[in-house]
Amino acid sequence: MSLKLRKLSYALGAEVCDIDVAAPMSEVAFGEIYKAFLDHGILLFRDQDITREQHIEFSRRFGELDKHESLPQDRHPDHPELLLVTNEPNADGTPSNSRYTGRQWHSDMSFTPIPSLGSLLKSWTVPEVGGDTLFANMTMAYDTLSGGMKKLIADLHGIQLAGTRKINYAPTGVGRAEEQRKLNPPIAQPVVRVHPETGKKALYLGEKVKRFDGMTEAESLPLIQYLNAHATKPEFVYRQQWRKNDIVVWDNRCTMHQALGDFDETQRRHMERTTVLGTPSGYAVMGG
Ligand code: OGA
Ligand code: MN
Repeated sequence: MSLKLRKLSYALGAEVCDIDVAAPMSEVAFGEIYKAFLDHGILLFRDQDITREQHIEFSRRFGELDKHESLPQDRHPDHPELLLVTNEPNADGTPSNSRYTGRQWHSDMSFTPIPSLGSLLKSWTVPEVGGDTLFANMTMAYDTLSGGMKKLIADLHGIQLAGTRKINYAPTGVGRAEEQRKLNPPIAQPVVRVHPETGKKALYLGEKVKRFDGMTEAESLPLIQYLNAHATKPEFVYRQQWRKNDIVVWDNRCTMHQALGDFDETQRRHMERTTVLGTPSGYAVMGG
């Protein structure tokens, strides 16, 4: 098999065309997909009308899956490997807990000692327009910094906090953020990380970081904001406009992403994600 790839943007991403991810796939064929994943940071598979079991099975090709113990409220009731990102109300009519998931720049599970290798998000229901997701290339972001800035940030660690919010959306669920923080105490992650497979350096920040370890928020925030703004410049970003039955897999080790919420909230948006376990990174800090 030879993969048919179409680049999604200059910065990152490729669509894998003419493929059914639920069909039997040899090790060699999957090897080509994995190589494309490493080369492009994210891959898009369109028209994957597949079951939850098939989504999970394909995801397992990338590695062992997270059972989402650190985000228990958002798991699919029958499949702990699936995390819901949905605005479909709960059975009792109350709003979904996960309707604002991902609405800030982040890399999945950065607030845990085993950040994710990659995530596979499948769109089940999409609004008429919008509900887009942005992805940023953090290798490009690092490479385009000056030598002086690279030296300045080389040994810094950013404290990643669970349950953070960029905008004050209406609260989701009773004590949701508090529960997330209780389950996930603050973790300091290197601001410059080395990708374990490609060996390339990437920036590791995002909007869950409010300060560097050993520094105050007032000292840290201007630099954090600069680096996040630099990393998310339009030329480093791909914007995913979802269609039903898309699967996007992204490499959390060299990209970050943000759900935009740019859609009519009376319409339904239902997504399900598997999360591939990564390798241990960072250290616990007291007090955040
Ligand atoms: C995620 C996430 C973004 C989206 O599933 O990890 O951040 O657009 N989702 O739903
Ligand atoms: Mn995410």
